[in-house]
Order: sequence, then structure tokens, then C-alpha cells
Amino acid sequence: ELGLHSHFMQKEIYEQPKAIADTAEIFLDGGFIAENFGDDAPAIFKTINSIKILACGTSYYAALTGKYWLESIAKIRCDVEIASEYRYRDVIADDKELVITISQSGETLDTMEALKYAVAQGHTHSLSICNVMESALPRSSSLAIYTRAGAEIGVASTKAFTTQLVILFGLAVTLGRVRGHVSEADLERYADDLRQLPGSIQHALNLEPQLGVWAQKFAAKPSALFLGRGIHYPIALEGALKLKELTYIHAEAYPAGELKHGPLALVDENMPVVVIAPNDSLLDKVKANMQEVGARGGELFVLTDLDSDFTDTEGVHVIRTPRHIGVLSPIVHTIAVQLLSYHVALVRGTDVDKPRNLAKSVTVE
Ligand code: M6R
Repeated sequence: ELGLHSHFMQKEIYEQPKAIADTAEIFLDGGFIAENFGDDAPAIFKTINSIKILACGTSYYAALTGKYWLESIAKIRCDVEIASEYRYRDVIADDKELVITISQSGETLDTMEALKYAVAQGHTHSLSICNVMESALPRSSSLAIYTRAGAEIGVASTKAFTTQLVILFGLAVTLGRVRGHVSEADLERYADDLRQLPGSIQHALNLEPQLGVWAQKFAAKPSALFLGRGIHYPIALEGALKLKELTYIHAEAYPAGELKHGPLALVDENMPVVVIAPNDSLLDKVKANMQEVGARGGELFVLTDLDSDFTDTEGVHVIRTPRHIGVLSPIVHTIAVQLLSYHVALVRGTDVDKPRNLAKSVTVE
């Protein structure tokens, strides 16, 4: 089943161009139509005035990324919450709020209980984004849409995460269209972005040898810091989670602007700092944050795209994704953080597919 690959995780990382193309097809086929989300979706999408996304772990980070697209493309307010927190607090019911759950397995107990709680409190509209057909969450939701990732065996989520992002982007464009915030020209541009994406992912996979070189520098470190800003901050979180799960190296992620409010105290020559820094409107801000790290002797590992002007210098290592990918850039940068953690795990000799203490589907509290 592994074919030429050494681990399921590696196989699943390499399946992403196809998984993403298959998932994008949902939207490219019919032209971002609401019916992709269920028969009742056209009516529900017109009624709602806000979105609440509930999820755990990597699916929660997908939700945090999706919030940016939903607010900027569909112009709809979106809150994201960790399911295990939401289910134990007083919430204010709103029958015009669409409750979205995101779950690869569709069986995560905390997410399921959070959905039940939301419904019991008076939320009437729910949508499940899921990878497993007919699992508990889509069965319990008024609307459902499936990622076309195929079975994911590795405990660390890879292709499920990136295909969740494709669905969230498709949802933002669909909602934007239904609610009159996306023009025909915008629609064509977004469709084109989706069409280009599998090719950009393939290019990012070709960075594996360079990321393998970086991995040698991480393997003996006790901890690492991941920084990002805006829509790339959730990708920094995802990078830190992958490193923790796969290598047991302590890793944290921060929005880069928070550095000087505390975490800068951690930075010294022993602390590798991964910065996700594509050439977007926040690049200058990120550069200023990087200088703060450099001035304290921190070693910088910069993931950026073709258009930025970083150069490899003493203490600054740069890897470029092959082109500027615009609005879908978080998906492409995810590939690099997956491959980095995978290679650090190989150097450290940890169990890549079954990290200690973790289960693929968390059906207990
Ligand atoms: O099946 P789910 O998406 O609901 O699972 C949620 C988390 O348990 C899961 O994403 C977990 O964080 C992964 N091991 C991350 O790689």
C-alpha cells in the first residue's frame, strides 16, 4: 500500500496535488454553487448573518485560516472556537448563525458534543466539513460537504488539512456569490486560483531536499518557534503542531507582532525560528519582527515566495515556494512545514505514522 514511500505520512503528503485537485473540482464543476453543500444550502446561505466554526487540533487551524477568507471574500462575520471549550461555556443562541464543524474523522467526541450543545441552545443551521462519508458529524448536521482526500492513515493530518482549506475557500467564494459580494470577474479569478493550486503544490513538494537540509539543523534543538502574520499565522500554528506531534520537540507559534510582548525572551542562538513570510501586505511588518529575532542571535528559517527579496545570510536561511500564489498561499506554505517536520522526525528516528500517546480518531473526552 505504501508503494515507493517510506511512511503513510510521506505518501499522504505526496497525494496532495491530487486530493486538492479532486476537492477543487467540486467548485470548478458547477461554478461555486450553493447546492454543493446540500439541498437546503441556497436558502440557508441567504438567511444567515454570521458563522461559528467548531473544531479541534489541525481542523481548528483550518477553521482559523478559513475565517480570513470568509470575512474578506464573503464579508460575513466568522468566529472560530475550540470545540472542547465551546461545549462548556454559556453561549448565546442565534438562529441566524451557521454552525460549522470541521473534522477529518467525523467522529471527534468534543466536536460532536459541541454541535449537540449548539443545537440544544437554539442554533438551527449546521454544516459539517468532513472526510469520512456518513460519519457522526455529517449525519447530525443540516448540511454536509466532503473533502476528497481519500483515507488518511498517518495520525498527523496532512492532506485532510489542505483539502479542508480548499472547502473553506470554496465556501467563502460560494457565500460571497450568493450574497452579492463576488462579481463574475472575481469568480473567474478565484476559479483560476483553484485551477493553478495543484501545480503550485507540486512545485512546493519539490522543495523536499532543501527542507531535509533544514531538518538537520532542527534535530538536536530542544524547542522551536514558528511565526506568521495574518492568514499565515494559522499555518505557523499548524507547523508547530506538526513538529510537536512528529518529533516531540517543543514548538510554539505566535503571530509575529506578539514577539515583543513576551516570547522574544526565549530567543537565543539555540532557538530556531521558522517564519512564514510570503510577499503579501504584511511582509514589511514581518521583516521588522525578523530583525528583532536576528538581533538576539536567533537563527531564522524563512519560508517565502519568489517575489520577496530575502537573501541567505549568516543566521538567515531562505526557502522559496516557486511562485507567488496570492489568496491560496496558506495552502502552499503548509506543504513546506509538513515536509520539515517529517524530515526532522526521520533524523530523530521517531515513529512518523504513529506518534506516541496519540490516536487518529479521538472519541473520548
Ligand atoms: O478528526 P478530526 O479532524 O476531528 O481530528 C481533530 C484532531 O484530533 C486532529 O486534527 C489532530 O490534531 C491531528 N493529529 C493533527 O495532526
